[in-house]
Amino acid sequence: MSQMTIQDGSDVLILLGDKQFVIKIVEGQKFHTHKGYIDCSQLIGKPFGSYFKTSTGHSFVALRPSLRDYVSKFARRTQIIYPKDACSMLLWGDIKPGQRVLEAGTGSGALTAYIAQIVGKDGKVYGYDVNEDSIKITKKNLERLNLLSNVELKVGDVTQGVDLDNIDTVVLDLPTPWLAVKPLKKCLTTDAHFVSFSPTINQVEKTVLALKEANYVRIEAFETILREFDVKPDATRPKTLGITHTGYVVSARNCV
Ligand SMILES: C[S@@+](CC[C@H](N)C(=O)[O-])C[C@H]1O[C@@H](n2cnc3c(N)ncnc32)[C@H](O)[C@@H]1O
Repeated sequence: MSQMTIQDGSDVLILLGDKQFVIKIVEGQKFHTHKGYIDCSQLIGKPFGSYFKTSTGHSFVALRPSLRDYVSKFARRTQIIYPKDACSMLLWGDIKPGQRVLEAGTGSGALTAYIAQIVGKDGKVYGYDVNEDSIKITKKNLERLNLLSNVELKVGDVTQGVDLDNIDTVVLDLPTPWLAVKPLKKCLTTDAHFVSFSPTINQVEKTVLALKEANYVRIEAFETILREFDVKPDATRPKTLGITHTGYVVSARNCV
């Protein structure tokens, strides 16, 4: 059952003015903000979703953090996947409970966390990265969220192939995905899903060509554009600043 009241040790998402923080509530501790401090003790025993006041009288709300909130605060050694791109990769890769997913490179573990949450306790994520520090940081980030039980992390170059079988979906976010297409084919189920994320269109071309040569079908390449809006009565308009470019997704299905 979901925990509905804030406890000593709970993680909470604080919404204060236009700022947000994910903090751990510790009895007797103070959390300093730009609008006064938050006395953690006043939150304990209150329902998530309640309003409180800082020491200088500013109102804030305390909510349960979502996975997206946690991931946005991850320690990083690489650029992490943006939620808008993760969404399409998860859907195009048909990632669902119980699946066996091969992911590379894990980077800072943002995409690994999203996949691990969806495949659940009956599924498995095999995460590879050539860089040992990436594996360490992914492990640390996932450990904090209790998402490591269905994740196996390995230092390895996936363009050299991997010792796995019956993989339902392969998910790539690395500089040369086209070099991994052929070597990974033998570890996949016969009609497995392939999804790859690349920041440049040159990488997309090379990946699509490699997929065609390796007999993949239903090859698609696309970009997800997210435009946020400021919504105000009679003055609704797109936000002036926003993310312009992140990258492209290539998806395909294996066939024999
Ligand atoms: C942009 S980061 C991935 C970020 C990750 N998706 C996230 O959301 O945190 C790319 C990673 O690919 C790794 N990498 C590069 N070539 C690789 C290869 N051949 N095999 C495995 N990992 C590789 C890099 O070390 C780097 O950590």
